[in-house]
Amino acid sequence: MTSLLEQPGYDEEKLQMVAEQLLCREDQAGLLLSLMGQPQQYCYPSIFIYGHQASGKSHVMHVMLKELELPHAIISCVECVSSSLLFELVLFSFFGSEASSLLPRSPSLSDFVRIYRQQCLQAPATQTRYIVMEKAELLRDADANLLPALLRLQELDNVSVILLSEISWDKFRPNTGCFEPLLLHFPDYSKGDLHQILSQDSHPKYSDDFYSSYINILLGVFYTVCRDLRELRHLVRHTHTHTVKETDTHKLWRNIEPHLKKAMQTVYLREVSSVQWEQMQQMEEKEAGALRGLSAHTHVELPYYSKFLLVAAYLASYNPARTDRRFFLKHHGKIKKTNFLKKNEKTSNHLLGPKPFPLDRLLAIFYSVVDSRVAPTASIFSQISSLVTLQLLTQVSHDDQLDAPKYKCAVSLDFICAISRTVNFEIVKYLYDFL
Ligand SMILES: Nc1ncnc2c1ncn2[C@@H]1O[C@H](COP(=O)(O)OP(=O)(O)O)[C@@H](O)[C@H]1O
Ligand SMILES: [Mg+2]
Repeated sequence: MTSLLEQPGYDEEKLQMVAEQLLCREDQAGLLLSLMGQPQQYCYPSIFIYGHQASGKSHVMHVMLKELELPHAIISCVECVSSSLLFELVLFSFFGSEASSLLPRSPSLSDFVRIYRQQCLQAPATQTRYIVMEKAELLRDADANLLPALLRLQELDNVSVILLSEISWDKFRPNTGCFEPLLLHFPDYSKGDLHQILSQDSHPKYSDDFYSSYINILLGVFYTVCRDLRELRHLVRHTHTHTVKETDTHKLWRNIEPHLKKAMQTVYLREVSSVQWEQMQQMEEKEAGALRGLSAHTHVELPYYSKFLLVAAYLASYNPARTDRRFFLKHHGKIKKTNFLKKNEKTSNHLLGPKPFPLDRLLAIFYSVVDSRVAPTASIFSQISSLVTLQLLTQVSHDDQLDAPKYKCAVSLDFICAISRTVNFEIVKYLYDFL
């Protein structure tokens, strides 16, 4: 049973659809809806939604804006590495490609404001437009003027900015002062909430009762160590596919138990995090296209050189360092094949898992791989740290070597193959294990 969302000006059926998808977030959705008011009324200029990872911030916003068919632009601050991309996306979403093409090269904030205002004169908002900033905490690293400007964008027209953040506003607020957004907190889901939400995607093969008690067992095992809905959903999907007929409970349990045990050991140590897993699922769905794997719109889209950095990191993690000369030196002279492929080295490097490598080795491979596609030096280091933030690379600290950080590549072979394809790099040709 879902409680009702009510707000004049919106289609009741649509509100019902929203409510059905927002289990355990009815209060937050209701509050948001009353802040938004009727579609043509002005909403509060800026709303700051704060909550831990997987507390449903993005989900709530996506569902509401999509189902209620409100004009919106969803901006991921991870993807918008520069403010010009942000400006472009906003103008494009609201006014189309002609508007975004009016932006000059490396546009300033005032260029954006000028064009936005000009477009609004031609096409004033008949209902509130929404800009949703995902991972808004990254805005703290952007130009200092950007955040204060976004918070009061409404001075231009009927537009509201919604910031989604895992960091509270107190730690976020620029110390120069700015217009204060309205704060909205998304608490963590309780055990009961998680049960309700997870029970929703029950499997046609099983009865609702069975599924519900299955979720119960799973939560009983995992709730103390993991409360992340995304992680849990990943577990549910990966364990129940191994189950058999629901009547044979004994066999059933025997089947699930080892998977639970394994999952318990690896819940935070998996090579592929649940976020990546979700992205990979999305990628698989899109595999039909010529660029199999990563479309420009999946969340995994990385900047061009970051992809090469990740490829280089993968090579550094899985190739023995002594083979670098053979792979990456154009004129490596004669290296006898027999020397190169040591007979006694039987174990696959992929089985052993990623090995740490120093920064200079990464850069050497990177520059060799990028080759003629000139790489800018300045941004490389910031891209490396972005990859670490995204958990695609992990930094391995050595207490005795503080100044020489080492890294490990944390993505799977499938993942790196998909990435390589988008930049036309045949990674298998460079992997020692596959020679
Ligand atoms: N109330 C809910 N009902 C169904 N699925 C949900 C709900 N809340 C979150 N999810 C799902 O859980 C995952 C994490 O939620 P998300 O909105 O991305 O979290 P956040 O943006 O707060 O980090 C997503 O796959 C989302 O679809
Ligand atoms: Mg989110």
